[in-house]
Amino acid sequence: MAFFDNTRKPTGLGGRIMVSMMNIGHRSLADWGLKYLKLNNDANMLDCGCGGGANIKKLLKLCPNGFVKGIDYSPVSVAKANKVNRGAVSIHRCVVLQGNVADMIFASEWFDAVTAFETVYFRPDMLQSFKEVYRVLKSGGTFLICNECGGDNLEDEKWTEKVSGMIIYKDVQLKAILEQAGFRDIQIHKNEKGWLCILVQK
Ligand SMILES: C[S@@+](CC[C@H](N)C(=O)[O-])C[C@H]1O[C@@H](n2cnc3c(N)ncnc32)[C@H](O)[C@@H]1O
Repeated sequence: MAFFDNTRKPTGLGGRIMVSMMNIGHRSLADWGLKYLKLNNDANMLDCGCGGGANIKKLLKLCPNGFVKGIDYSPVSVAKANKVNRGAVSIHRCVVLQGNVADMIFASEWFDAVTAFETVYFRPDMLQSFKEVYRVLKSGGTFLICNECGGDNLEDEKWTEKVSGMIIYKDVQLKAILEQAGFRDIQIHKNEKGWLCILVQK
């Protein structure tokens, strides 16, 4: 397996290195995207494809009276996310589970917001995974997607050669699938680096 395939599903030693790198490397993207998400102190949050858990940590800070769950299908990601958030896990403010976003164990209508940072590139079953996010959100809840590869820079396509199974979506493609899953009120933000942030409501 090529090293960069660990971005799709971190595995083994390469995966452990990759989740640590992503915890640092995706910091700015998450800070940028989270500025657009309005949350109450007691919001219940889910981070899908949570990787090494750095963004779960940010969500715990943003919602000091809330609960944050994470899900990732990679055992390496789940172990790292649990380690990074062990304080919150020990007082039951945080749970990180191994599972596929397309078929989640979580109860319906429990989360105020769901986030997905740098992960929707790896969804062969994109519509099903968005339907699952829709199911677990409360009515009026928000789904936030943030991608460094926003689909407008041809240069970003180099990543699809390095990472097998990676697909870069344009905003209009994601919008169409999100609407098919039932979401409405789409907001699209882009920046000069070509990053994309999408917010939709249930
Ligand atoms: C590029 S990493 C991003 C990790 C983290 N969100 C971040 O910003 O650092 C993508 C993560 O999504 C996870 N992932 C991809 N597809 C998934 C799926 N269908 N269900 C659960 N996790 C998935 C991978 O295992 C990986 O940890």
